[in-house]
Amino acid sequence: MTRYAHITGWGMAVPEKILSNGELSSMVETSDEWIISRTGIRERRIAAPDETTASLAADAAIKALSVANLRPIDVDLIIVSTSSPEHIFPASACLVQDQIGAIKAGAFDLSAACSGFIFALNMATQAIRSGSIENALIIGAETLSRFVDWKDRNTCILFGDGAGAFVLQADDEPGGVLSAVMHSDGSGEDLLSLPAGGSRIPTSTESVKNGLHYIHMNGREVFRFATRVMVQATRESLEAAGLELNNIQLLIPHQANQRIIETAARGLDYPLEQVVINLDRYGNTSTASIPIATCEAIEQGRLKPDDNVVFVGFGGGLTWGAAVVKWTSPFPVRFKVRPGRYRYLARLRSWLSKLRRTLEGLIWGRG
Ligand code: COA
Repeated sequence: MTRYAHITGWGMAVPEKILSNGELSSMVETSDEWIISRTGIRERRIAAPDETTASLAADAAIKALSVANLRPIDVDLIIVSTSSPEHIFPASACLVQDQIGAIKAGAFDLSAACSGFIFALNMATQAIRSGSIENALIIGAETLSRFVDWKDRNTCILFGDGAGAFVLQADDEPGGVLSAVMHSDGSGEDLLSLPAGGSRIPTSTESVKNGLHYIHMNGREVFRFATRVMVQATRESLEAAGLELNNIQLLIPHQANQRIIETAARGLDYPLEQVVINLDRYGNTSTASIPIATCEAIEQGRLKPDDNVVFVGFGGGLTWGAAVVKWTSPFPVRFKVRPGRYRYLARLRSWLSKLRRTLEGLIWGRG
């Protein structure tokens, strides 16, 4: 029997602190007028010192599990898509797994820059369709404010922090993720990158002095690439789903730049009123932008069960992709669960695991 991957839960988490264009103008030579006219961005959220990629991801995940009415222990797979992980390793997904108490889940990070959420959606869908898992949690989470050079006006005006999550569940009922396409072109590696801190340029006094631990970007080239691939990937995903654009009620693109989105909508001849745009309030939250925009579209009543929606994104790598989803709703439930409550148990379990390892170390270490 064919299995389908339905999106049954969603949640978002953004920091409270807002950084406006006006405030940015006092940090670098720019203006509110320039930023709005070139990007559409008015403000972005910036993580507080105690907020991290994993903590935002865990907050979004708990909200998504609450919507799906699923306990963390029922999650089989966690994928965190991020370009601002807590560490090179361990994966931020493992930290999320520990924070929410998803003790059964395998967890890993996925690195495909701003396209990562679509790649994660596809991977979780394939795992469900193959029959290897029942429930997946995919999260796009970023604290890019920690990797931005706040003296570089080309990049610091663009990015913001936040996280968004979906729960995917298996069902025999047709619907859910209908198609997904993924593409990459590594020849564009230098157009959008964070050069140092990996194995090619390990962090050193020299790399820090040269600012290689910050995001570097060729804005014009990325702009050209983005407008081209958004149209291509949307068409390709529609073809794979056997649908036409006029069957699509909503387009939710990666929120990088208002002009990129408008150019893509024009290229597709798709009405801008049916495109979700919220980058004015969050800036470019990279891989988190699509799930955050989805959560807001649902809250505003713009995305309803049975609607067909296209997600389309692009980013560093270069990477790009799109997915077509027949929107469903949370599965019916008999008992209401409160996934948030499991966080306290998760903390206790985590502490006990550490204690067990310490005790084992003491006992076996002596033996
Ligand atoms: N404020 C004021 N002036 C700025 C500025 C800022 N924040 N940033 C750049 N400028 C200046 C440039 O220095 C340049 O000046 P010059 O002509 O004297 O050299 C001028 O504005 C035009 O720069 P340009 O790069 O051509 O501007 P643009 O219209 O291409 O807009 C971006 C710049 C970055 C907004 C635009 O290229 C873009 O959005 N690209 C895509 C980036 C993106 O989405 N990245 C993430 C992908 S996931």
